[in-house]
Amino acid sequence: MRLVSEGPSPRLNAMCGIVGYVGQRSSSEVLMSGLARLEYRGYDSAGVAIVSDSGSLVSHKRAGKLGVLAEDLANSPLESGSTGIAHTRWATHGAPTDANAHPHLADDGKLALIHNGIIENFHELKEQLVASGETFSSDTDSEVAAVLLGIAYRESRDLTQAMVNVVGRLEGAFTLLIVHEDAPGVVVGARRNSPLVIGVGEGENFLGSDVAAFVAYTHKALALGQDQIVTITKDSIDVMSFEGEVVHPPEFTIDWDASAADKGGWSSFMAKEISEEPEAVANTLRGRLSPEGEVTIPELDSLDVSLIDRVIFIACGTAAYAAMLGAYAMEKWSGIPVTVELSHEFRYRDPVVGAGTLVVSVSQSGETMDTLMAVRYANELGAQTLAICNTQGATIPRESDATLYTHAGPEVAVASTKAFLSQTIAVYLLGLYLGGHRGFVSAELAAQTAQDLHNLPGQIQEMVSTGPRIKELAGWMADTRSVLYLGRHVGYPVALEGALKLKELAYIHAEGFAAGELKHGPIALIEPGQIVFVMVPSPRDPSSLHNKVVSNIQEIRARGARVIAIAEKGDAAVLPYADEVIAIPPASPFMEPLLSVVPLHIFGMELAAAKGLDIDQPRNLAKSVTVE
Ligand code: F6R
Repeated sequence: MRLVSEGPSPRLNAMCGIVGYVGQRSSSEVLMSGLARLEYRGYDSAGVAIVSDSGSLVSHKRAGKLGVLAEDLANSPLESGSTGIAHTRWATHGAPTDANAHPHLADDGKLALIHNGIIENFHELKEQLVASGETFSSDTDSEVAAVLLGIAYRESRDLTQAMVNVVGRLEGAFTLLIVHEDAPGVVVGARRNSPLVIGVGEGENFLGSDVAAFVAYTHKALALGQDQIVTITKDSIDVMSFEGEVVHPPEFTIDWDASAADKGGWSSFMAKEISEEPEAVANTLRGRLSPEGEVTIPELDSLDVSLIDRVIFIACGTAAYAAMLGAYAMEKWSGIPVTVELSHEFRYRDPVVGAGTLVVSVSQSGETMDTLMAVRYANELGAQTLAICNTQGATIPRESDATLYTHAGPEVAVASTKAFLSQTIAVYLLGLYLGGHRGFVSAELAAQTAQDLHNLPGQIQEMVSTGPRIKELAGWMADTRSVLYLGRHVGYPVALEGALKLKELAYIHAEGFAAGELKHGPIALIEPGQIVFVMVPSPRDPSSLHNKVVSNIQEIRARGARVIAIAEKGDAAVLPYADEVIAIPPASPFMEPLLSVVPLHIFGMELAAAKGLDIDQPRNLAKSVTVE
């Protein structure tokens, strides 16, 4: 996720939600429930278009939340029909107004289009269309595609052919869905650099930005590939490339239930997702790690492990911190050099990469454009590519040589929480897997690590139950303007993750530092009252890091900092210096960070709640960033 909306800059993206339906049900119901499940993607207007049973195209769209549209539709229902498309829009080109909302109509109101992404050449296309007498009723780039499709349909009288004729003229990123009143029972979609998944039903079929759009109706899905066009009717699904070649997309089963994407009585999706952190970790481990520490992941069979002499992780934000954390363990357990890079940095330098390099992308959504582009770049450079991903049917897994799914269940809150833990576990498993293949991990270490990992869900549950205490702390700090986070070794990525959560959820300035870096500059920030969270390694840790971090605490305390230490239960050394200690159960060094991060997730959420902010949809952010 990252920056979206507010103004019409072409670099800001629409993270829109898209739903399409053909079947026997009332499409209005299916479409509105699909949009509700896609709400988490972030949006500022919504709309729906239906080909009615009497054969006319009817539509309605409104700026504002889905409730505004739903109320209008309740007061003046659209004519019913069982074919339709619906959309939630994040404003990019043009303000979030009724007119700029989707669907956009063309061909004298007989064709409706919805669009996610950005049509980069819309200016020149619009100029040409205006010059030839076409008129526009919105400021959007999307309406240009609608008008082009209207013209193309008039020429071909075939909705799929119209799409084939138009996609070649569009530059940029797009998912497009169209319906036409002269083609009842048909929805046509196309995608380039923007997600679209097909839901396969019986006597009905679906399209969605992700499977959440239709999981309430079917668990069978097809992943539409890059530069492909799909035509659905109630009984058929036809897919072709932009060049018109028939394609058979791979089928997959959605392994979570519609109820998993509901709030289920929690005050926010984030509260629910933090409560699911133990389960997310258990799910990532399930069936993959024997008590002896042997890792079984058939999904990795397509990699040539014997070739791998280097691993590069590419990821953004929280996913990058999970990779950083996992990389410490992976290097130690596999003996392979491991580096971690932000996807958008990797892509714009000239990395030395070859067949011996395994490039591992980490992405909850599997749609983050920066990471997708970096994966493509790695593929071009001849690397082996592995995706660690949580979302089935997403683009990054499709474009990678192998995929390790985290199985954390749907993550709806914009800020990532349970995905961080499950991504780290996936990297740990990969480390043990590679170490096992290379004969680098001793049987004893493997068995001990397996035991530690299997103990984790229970220990994470203990951390989740620190919630009420953390809430109290957050309540006292609602006026805080700046919070620092310190950690060393595996505590460092946790410090970065804690700071990111606070920035994005509570809009408070926050920084994470490697504690050893303090004296090299950041200590100048410490003044009386400055709140500092410190990740304290276990006193049982054979390295001397515990003592070093306790010294750091003393240094900042001497300068007036208020210290909240996250330390092992019974660690007497921190007590004299900490204003507050959050105790974690004894765990091995690589497991500790997965415990200490939990109160930091809770803290970010509770501070946002104390400030009365929208926890699930922080300002300026959307769940998956599908453009650069
Ligand atoms: C922070 C957060 C983001 C994402 C990042 C990558 O809470 O959620 O930093 O981790 O945008 O997203 P994915 O994992 O979908 O590639």
